[in-house]
Amino acid sequence: MSAKIIDGKQIAAEMREQLKAEVAGLAKKGIVPGLGVVLVGDDPASKSYVTAKQKACQEIGIYSDDNRLPESTPQKDLINVVNRLNKDPKIHGILTQLPFPKHINETEVLLTIDPAKDVDGFHPINVGKFVTGHKAFLPCTPHGVVRLLIRCGVKIEGTDVVIVGRSNIVGKPLANILIQKSPLGNATVTVCHTKTRNLAEHTRRADIVVAAAGRPNTITADMIKDGAVVIDVGVNRIEDPTKKTGYRLVGDVDFERVKEKASMITPVPGGVGPMTITMLLYNTVESAKITTGLA
Ligand code: GUN
Repeated sequence: MSAKIIDGKQIAAEMREQLKAEVAGLAKKGIVPGLGVVLVGDDPASKSYVTAKQKACQEIGIYSDDNRLPESTPQKDLINVVNRLNKDPKIHGILTQLPFPKHINETEVLLTIDPAKDVDGFHPINVGKFVTGHKAFLPCTPHGVVRLLIRCGVKIEGTDVVIVGRSNIVGKPLANILIQKSPLGNATVTVCHTKTRNLAEHTRRADIVVAAAGRPNTITADMIKDGAVVIDVGVNRIEDPTKKTGYRLVGDVDFERVKEKASMITPVPGGVGPMTITMLLYNTVESAKITTGLA
């Protein structure tokens, strides 16, 4: 069997068209959703994510407040920027791009973001809310993964899902979404990580495998059950002298071989990535609606 390749770019484009129409409707009521973006340092991957996020905001009519700070920025200066965005009524969502440089304490900064503007869903108050089944902003990458599955007609309820990777940004929140008693959940979830004893034993019995380990070739064809759905969250830069940039992007999955065994698979790039940004736009529009009493 050769898998259906899930076109995340197309699905994200359709969702962005819907959001654009919604933003146009809000504009008629004098409401413009606003996103404050903060990037500290020069990490090339982070810079390209942030640029893509700002471009996406512009395309659908979200106001964006761009803050690019040097690598050496002291934590208190970063917190001052967050506090300014917290107070700004034009801003409904705040995104501080992770990872921060090493001298900055991530938890301390995330704790200063107003939970009502935490469109990343990383503030412990929002994490606590959604883990306990209350309404909260869902972190963008896991939310994007679940929306992709639903748009592709995958029935999540009752499936065995194996997530490879336990980060705060992807693995942990995805597990928490998928175990909820909700239309986005009702799955049986296993989270594997670097200390898992026999990774293949887990992945081979999964109906859905989500690779979020940050390492190329973590998932090979022998680790996948025939007909499984494979979602690749990995974004790894590997050297490629044939490319103008000198590198190309690959995921965590051996795409060429795994696609011969899976029933559906996401490519990298063009799979989960465009959905992450779309869910950020979605959360920002939701936040604007909540603040103005429209949701
Ligand atoms: N770094 C990688 N993914 C993300 C994300 O979804 N949000 C933020 N703020 N930083 C990231």
